[in-house]
Amino acid sequence: MSSHVFAPRGVVAPGRLFEDDGGRVAQLHGVGIQRHGDRFYAWGEDKTNGGTFGGVACYSSPDLATWTSHGHALAVTPDVPDLAPGRVIERPKVLRNPGGTYVMLLHVDSADYGDARVGWAVAERPEGPYTYLRSERPLGNISRDIGVFADDDGTGYLLSEDRENGLHVYRLADDYLSVEEIVSTTLAPPSDHPAGPHGYESPTMIKADGLYYLFGSDLTGWSTNDNKYATAPSPAGPWSEWRDFAPPGSATYDSQVSVVVPVHGSETTSYVYVGDRWDSGDLFGSAPVWLPMQVSDGRAELQWRDAWTIDTTTGVIS
Ligand code: GAL
Repeated sequence: MSSHVFAPRGVVAPGRLFEDDGGRVAQLHGVGIQRHGDRFYAWGEDKTNGGTFGGVACYSSPDLATWTSHGHALAVTPDVPDLAPGRVIERPKVLRNPGGTYVMLLHVDSADYGDARVGWAVAERPEGPYTYLRSERPLGNISRDIGVFADDDGTGYLLSEDRENGLHVYRLADDYLSVEEIVSTTLAPPSDHPAGPHGYESPTMIKADGLYYLFGSDLTGWSTNDNKYATAPSPAGPWSEWRDFAPPGSATYDSQVSVVVPVHGSETTSYVYVGDRWDSGDLFGSAPVWLPMQVSDGRAELQWRDAWTIDTTTGVIS
C-alpha cells in the first residue's frame, strides 16, 4: 500500500491525492468532468472496493483543485444486476442532453471483463441521484473503456474501445440515450500492435479552433504507456496518424489519460489533462496526474508542473 500523500489545499500537485472537504481521499478515478456555471462537476470511480464497483462518487469544485463531495451519484445496488456488489463499473462520463437531463454513460462489466457493455443512467441534477436505465453492447459491439463528447451543435458522441476492431466514435441519438451509428473507427499503427490490430482505450475528445483531438492510451491494463492523440476536421475523420503528447518513454508521466478539460476563460482557453497513475495494489489511493496541456495548431503537448493552479474565470494557469 502506498502512503497517501495529499496535495496542498487549493493546488493541483500531479502525483499527489486530492483531499475532499471531509478529509477523505477524493475518488476521482477514471473521472468524467463537466463545467456547469462556475463549478466543475466530476464523477469518479469510488475504488473503496478495489477493482469492483464501489459507487460513482460525485464532487464539485470552483478551481479543479478544491473538491466538495456530493456522495454517490450512483450507488452499489444489490437488486440491479449491473450495479450489484462484485460487478465492474468504470469511467463514468456525464453529458447534459439538449433537453437538460444529465445523462451518465458507464463502462459496465463483469469482474472478468467479459460482459463489455455500455450503461446509461439519468438525473435532473449533476450530482444525482441517477436512475439507472440499462446496458447494452452498442450496435452489438464489445465496449470497454469509454469517453463522451458533445459538439457545439449539441450532437453527442460515445467513444468506445472494441479490441481488434479499433476505437469507435459513435453518434448518439438526440437525447444521448442510445447509439445511432459509427461515424469513424481508428486503429493503432502496425508498429504498436505486433500481436494483432487494436485501437486505443480510455478515449477522450476535445475541439479546439474547429479541429477535433482524440486522445487514448495503449491497452496495458493498470500499467501506463505512452498515450497518443490524433486530429481530424470532424468526429467522422479522417483521423491523422497517432502521435505522442508527452515525452516518449515517460509513459505519459506515468499516467493514463481520462479526460482533457477545456477551461474557457475571459482571457484565454486553457486545457487540463486529467490522468490516472494507477496503483494496482491500492486503486483507492491511485494518484491523479493532472497537468496543463498546450493545444494549438493541431498539436497537443503536456507540460510538467510540480504544482499549479488555474483561475477558472480568466482561464489563466499559474
Ligand atoms: C485498463 C482500463 C482501466 C481498467 C483496467 C483494468 O486497460 O483503462 O479502466 O479497466 O484496464 O485492468
